[in-house]
Amino acid sequence: MAVSGLLLLLFLVAHMAGNLKIFFGAESFDHYAHWLRDIGAPVLPHTWYLWIQRFVLTAALVGHAWAATVLALRAKRARPVRYAHRPKVQGSYAARTMRWGGVIILLFLVWHLLDLTVGTVNPVGNPATPYANVVAGFAPSRWPVTLFYALAVVAIGFHVRHGLFSALRTLGQRTAKGEQRARVAALGFAIILCAGFLSVPFAVLVGLVG
Ligand code: HEM
Repeated sequence: MAVSGLLLLLFLVAHMAGNLKIFFGAESFDHYAHWLRDIGAPVLPHTWYLWIQRFVLTAALVGHAWAATVLALRAKRARPVRYAHRPKVQGSYAARTMRWGGVIILLFLVWHLLDLTVGTVNPVGNPATPYANVVAGFAPSRWPVTLFYALAVVAIGFHVRHGLFSALRTLGQRTAKGEQRARVAALGFAIILCAGFLSVPFAVLVGLVG
């Protein structure tokens, strides 16, 4: 759970930071996207790094979902008889929505790849011009799509907050103060990640990027 989660988290941070290049203009953003295809050159041929990353991320995603299922089944087996009185509120909202959060994120990912990588559901849909794809994809008339993106990013925020808090608690001091620190760090990190991702569709929506 932790190793695959960390890999996915590293990708999210790099992707969010890379997306902010959109604020430097079309040339800068498209140049960055082309550079992504040449990472590792001249040792690695064109797009090889990207394909290695795709392979590693897919394995991490499958591993993450598999580990979550195994852990959930183990927890269920440990307590085959359901609690007669299960308190309604157990843990934070983030903790209770991990499973559905994961499903929303997966559905989002399918749409997102068709939208901005393959281009089939994007009004421009040209993989060579990612800036134009982003501007067309988040145009005001396509607000339902933007809303879906926003919901998915918030789901990711909750998911990351809980995941990071659990990881920090495992690694850190199991004292009230240590737990409080882990809580604040996980929340702060999730807010920065969400704000960074949301800034791009929001900037297109209000005409700041276009
Ligand atoms: C909401 C803000 C987001 C924007 C504006 C955005 C934008 C983009 C763009 C423009 C690309 C294509 C890059 C290229 O081909 O050069 C891309 C690819 C991708 N994005 Fe996002 N993204 C966002 C959020 C996310 C999130 C939250 C995730 C993960 C859950 C994600 C995962 C991916 C993946 C896996 C790829 C494919 C990378 C590859 O080609 O292998 N994106 N994104």
